[in-house]
Amino acid sequence: MVSWSVVSTGELETLELGKKLGQLLPQSTLVLLQGDLGAGKTVFARGVARGLGVDPEIPITSPTFTLMNHYSARHDLYHFDLYRLSDPDELIELGFDEYAFGSGVALVEWPEKLENNETPGLWVNLQRIDDEKREIEFSLQGDVDSQLVTAVEKICQ
Ligand SMILES: Nc1ncnc2c1ncn2[C@@H]1O[C@H](COP(=O)(O)OP(=O)(O)OP(=O)(O)O)[C@@H](O)[C@H]1O
Ligand SMILES: [Mg+2]
Repeated sequence: MVSWSVVSTGELETLELGKKLGQLLPQSTLVLLQGDLGAGKTVFARGVARGLGVDPEIPITSPTFTLMNHYSARHDLYHFDLYRLSDPDELIELGFDEYAFGSGVALVEWPEKLENNETPGLWVNLQRIDDEKREIEFSLQGDVDSQLVTAVEKICQ
């Protein structure tokens, strides 16, 4: 598995990194966002949404209770937060696979709840170094679009 790592020195830098990725993402991309509470998953997701061109007036917050938010942009964006998922069967009710493996872009916070750490896609792992610093590791799992590889390489340069 190929992986890249960068250090973000503050919220704005993580937001910017997400934005750059969002500008480059091909359709049918699944991004799995790992990290502890407060690591910066939602900040990164917000950046991706901005990069994809979601209306800047629309706030991007964690869909903690609804489990999924949908936004219209260059590609349809489905933002999941599975923290409160109590039973994997709920994923079926949500229609998770249709969104995650459909033609849009899906961002998933707490992908551990999928109980499959080999889910194909772009895995992003955020780790707190201190109050402001985060180590962000990108790894590609499975057969992914070459445009996605290029996108990750570009943002990690
Ligand atoms: N370099 C950084 N990158 C991202 N966030 C940072 C950074 N430095 C500090 N922060 C702060 O860390 C917090 C990250 O919050 P965020 O909601 O994105 O976390 P999360 O990983 O989505 O948590 P949760 O699991 O609760 O959804 C924010 O308060 C943000 O200001
Ligand atoms: Mg969050």
